[in-house]
Amino acid sequence: MKKFVINGGKKLYGEIDVGGAKNAVLPIMAASLLSSGEVILDDVPDLLDVSIMSQVVRALGGEVTRRGKSLTIQVGDFDNFEAPFDLITKMRASIVIMGPVLARKGRVRISHPGGCAIGSRPVNWHLKGLESLGAEVRIDHGYLDVSAPVLKGARIYLDFPSVGATENILMAAAAAEGVTIIENAAQEPEIVDLANFINRMGGKIRGAGTNVINIEGVKEFTGTRHVIIPDRIEAGTFILLAAACGGDVRVNNVIPTHLTPLLAKLDESGILYREEDDGIRVFGNDSFQAVDIKTQVHPGFPTDLQAPFLALLTRAKGTAIVTENIFENRFMHVDELKRMGADLKVEGRSVIIQGVPCLNPATLVATDLRAGAALILAALTAEGRSEIWEISHLDRGYENIEVKLQGIGADIVRVDE
Ligand code: EPZ
Repeated sequence: MKKFVINGGKKLYGEIDVGGAKNAVLPIMAASLLSSGEVILDDVPDLLDVSIMSQVVRALGGEVTRRGKSLTIQVGDFDNFEAPFDLITKMRASIVIMGPVLARKGRVRISHPGGCAIGSRPVNWHLKGLESLGAEVRIDHGYLDVSAPVLKGARIYLDFPSVGATENILMAAAAAEGVTIIENAAQEPEIVDLANFINRMGGKIRGAGTNVINIEGVKEFTGTRHVIIPDRIEAGTFILLAAACGGDVRVNNVIPTHLTPLLAKLDESGILYREEDDGIRVFGNDSFQAVDIKTQVHPGFPTDLQAPFLALLTRAKGTAIVTENIFENRFMHVDELKRMGADLKVEGRSVIIQGVPCLNPATLVATDLRAGAALILAALTAEGRSEIWEISHLDRGYENIEVKLQGIGADIVRVDE
């Protein structure tokens, strides 16, 4: 059993580096299946989810090798169109291999990815989009068996701007015959990075980053080299940790425009920071105001920063309301924070937060990736010794988080029980 032991109550000083974006590199690794050329990805974080996606690509017949921060992916004419059950259930994000495998092989078979801690995570919009391109979807014994001898471009309207559905449809459409228009598409920066990557392989995608994406299918994709964009969620997490602890921390390798919703909320709450070229310098503030948060699709406030921001708000002056509009069960950090003395009340999709002067240390359990980040933030502000169990959740999305935090003076160690 691995856990973090944290002695909180210290201000943080120094510089902390942000790595490549988990939620960009996962779909981009899937998109590399479209090409039989050599793909080299740079700034790839060493995460559990990246190693699972590497295993999925290998299981389909591709070669994946890591050299430092670079991944080389070589997928010849692979003959397997079924992803292994154990890998799909380990990481539901592997659902995005459907589009590229369907485009390359005319068929894909994948276990219906289950839900996870934060919600049931259906894939109906993925399937509806692929059907619009001419695919036939069969569900048998818990497997999705999707076939499409030919994919034809279509006009597709997404009921909701789902990130994964946009990605799957985009990748299938990139190799379909004719033109596809995706309306009400997701606009996250990771979608833009995926489209840029596919275009570097010879794709013809326009409008990524807006709610209408135009994709002209092409027959062949070449290899390419691509640098993954910085992880705005890791950046936002470090900015919030620094804001909560106070001190003087420079978060490096940030694209400020990807963090506009977060920075706007820091301004509103009176938390002091400064934008500097490719970094954000955070000073915090001993007394900052409560602010309300409503998670939305991009460019709204990102759901992945809801948990750490809520943890910060437990010590704000006044009353705050945090509303989670994207996932149906993303408040599991609330009970753990209440055990530290936070004054929180869940009412439907919202949490009402009465600020308290300080939190008390406790032994805590991480329930999912971003809830784990929220607990680290809370424990770093609480005077005394806290423990966080089930930290494998954190290793999915934060590379060596305790080492990075030690680098800015945090007293956090990983202990193998
Ligand atoms: C991506 O998940 C991210 N994961 C999530 O990050 C992120 O929270 C989410 O987008 C929203 O930004 C990756 O990119 C690997 P959605 P995804 O499809 O694609 C429902 C993290 O912590 N829905 O936009 O699954 C769904 O259940 C992770 O890094 C359907 O109902 O998100 C959810 O409630 C967590 N039917 C909502 O839509 C569908 O067919 C948004 O999901 C698809 C989704």
